[in-house]
Amino acid sequence: MTEEIRPGLQDVVVARTEVSTLDLERERIVVRGYDLIELARTVRFPDVAHLLLRGHLPSSEEQAAFCRELADLAGLPDGVVDVLRRLPRDTHPMDAQRTALSLLAGYEDPQALEDPSVEAAERALMRILARAPALTAASYRALRGEPVLEPNPGLGFAGSFLWMIQGRPREPEIVAVFDRILTCYSEHELAASTFTARVAASTLADPYAAVVAAAAALKGPLHGGANEAAARMFAQIRMAGGERAAEAYVLERLARRERIMGFGHRVYMHRPDPRAVLLREDLEAFAARDPDAAEMVRCYDVVVETMAREKGLHPNADLPIGLLLHLIGIPVELMTPIFLCARIAGIAAHVLEQRADNRLIRPRAAYEGPSGLAPPEGFTPSAC
Ligand code: CMC
Repeated sequence: MTEEIRPGLQDVVVARTEVSTLDLERERIVVRGYDLIELARTVRFPDVAHLLLRGHLPSSEEQAAFCRELADLAGLPDGVVDVLRRLPRDTHPMDAQRTALSLLAGYEDPQALEDPSVEAAERALMRILARAPALTAASYRALRGEPVLEPNPGLGFAGSFLWMIQGRPREPEIVAVFDRILTCYSEHELAASTFTARVAASTLADPYAAVVAAAAALKGPLHGGANEAAARMFAQIRMAGGERAAEAYVLERLARRERIMGFGHRVYMHRPDPRAVLLREDLEAFAARDPDAAEMVRCYDVVVETMAREKGLHPNADLPIGLLLHLIGIPVELMTPIFLCARIAGIAAHVLEQRADNRLIRPRAAYEGPSGLAPPEGFTPSAC
């Protein structure tokens, strides 16, 4: 057994994949051969979801069928909403969402859940993807005792998602930004959540279990939770005085050796994240329309300049997305659940790939504890 240990599995290649890669030389995220940033500019999230789940961009007939399928499957069983309403009010929507995803498994045909085929998994994953927006909006609204809104398929996937959260149809340009955010989040190779999903899938656990496992890994601030943390940071900077307080805010935290969320990345680290570069353009559009947004975007730029100068670190996708979602009016606790909804498309592709050529993922650890111990003489076993 090789004893070389790479903490955090840094640069360890654990799988072959046809889903995506981070092409550092060309500064591209390649998804099934396409540049993700080009996709974000030119197609809609459901097209990218089709590409991820079904392996190719849809023809116009396939587009219509896929959108119909997403719309037909989008509603939630009443029982799920009932359970969400019974959760303690202070439950984080990310926890509520993960709980609701687990509950959904109970509404599947048990035989279909046990079916180890790729086809059965694809059907379940399509249902999870379609229901994720309703489930996410319901997680938030039910906890607050607000009415839970039905999907509104006439508004499109992104538009209906915003509708269920905010209770009003949003302007086309806002829906377009939200759709781009979903595409930017849709797939990113072996991020911690996707890897976790593949580990769960490798045990032949059903797709719900794999997505729930991924949701657990996504919650942390070093991964998906970073968008929420970034949005909170901008709110604090604003309270502290806005643009003129932004540099001091960063320097104080760096002096305390704290991390600034929304910067750095295991794979890019000192290179730009192409998603953050694209989404900075959307921030510009907000700034041009609204002086309040313009002030926040200036704070953004000061934070970015300070981090580049002090640490040589670039923003990752979570920094602009935290701010964009705030400018769209999304509650901060819903930002990471929204990330998961989009990433389910990529996770689905990886779970299917794992199933198609499965081998249990089971690494080893280098043991550094004692050995040869025995319970002391006369040790009495506990009574419980
Ligand atoms: N703020 C301040 N310092 C940082 C940051 C940051 N955001 N990120 C890395 N560093 C420093 C870190 O302190 C360390 O410095 P030193 O060597 O002096 O101790 C050095 O950079 C290397 O950090 P590391 O933790 O060993 O690197 P990693 O590859 O394990 O961490 C990371 C990657 C994403 C966890 C880290 O950059 C981080 O904590 N970023 C903030 C959280 C964040 O934005 N996460 C979202 C990641 S991208 C989207 C996603 O996948 O969800």
